[in-house]
Amino acid sequence: MEKRIVVVASGRGSNFQAVINALKRGTIPAICVALITDNSKAYVIERAKSECIPVILVDYATFSSRELYEQALLTALKKTQPDLVVLAGYMRIMGRGVVKEFSGRMMNIHPALLPSFAGLHAQRQALLHAVKVTGCTVHFVDDSLDGGPIILQRCVRVMDEDDEDTLAERILIQEHIALPEAIRLFCEDRLTIEGRKVRTR
Ligand code: GAR
Repeated sequence: MEKRIVVVASGRGSNFQAVINALKRGTIPAICVALITDNSKAYVIERAKSECIPVILVDYATFSSRELYEQALLTALKKTQPDLVVLAGYMRIMGRGVVKEFSGRMMNIHPALLPSFAGLHAQRQALLHAVKVTGCTVHFVDDSLDGGPIILQRCVRVMDEDDEDTLAERILIQEHIALPEAIRLFCEDRLTIEGRKVRTR
């Protein structure tokens, strides 16, 4: 059975595009029913429009409190009746109510090998720590900061001459492989969560 995916993104949307491209290739048994964004200026909106995917704007800037924003986001998400919610460059911490509603059905991509370098500016954190290897992680979302059960990870070497941009670019190439792959595994019902561990069969 084809699954219903909703993507939530705040910015450029290259990960959204990678997911859409994989859906178009027919490698994932799913359809993307909507893009939800918190940012009216996000380039990802143009991408969704040119792929004829409905855009739902829950504009953070127009809400008087974080609670009201979270409520509106939850309502928007529920309306789309998703089997899976994919956070693809969503740059806010997801509220507890939303996380609870979609427990085990919401995944996020993060540009580091978690649990290292959670939170913002993961590539900068990796460079400051001078690690030799970093990468990306796709994980289920729980109410910790980037701490939910890990679905898959891909590695990237850090070069001496790297700056934040070159490193981010190299990680992004791996993100564009990892995220569609994790979505495919979910949509093929091949993932089971056992405590912290995600088993893949
Ligand atoms: C990606 O590198 C993603 O991993 C990161 O933002 C970028 C979005 O790029 N997400 C986070 O840092 C979430 N905390 P994109 O808009 O081109 O997909």
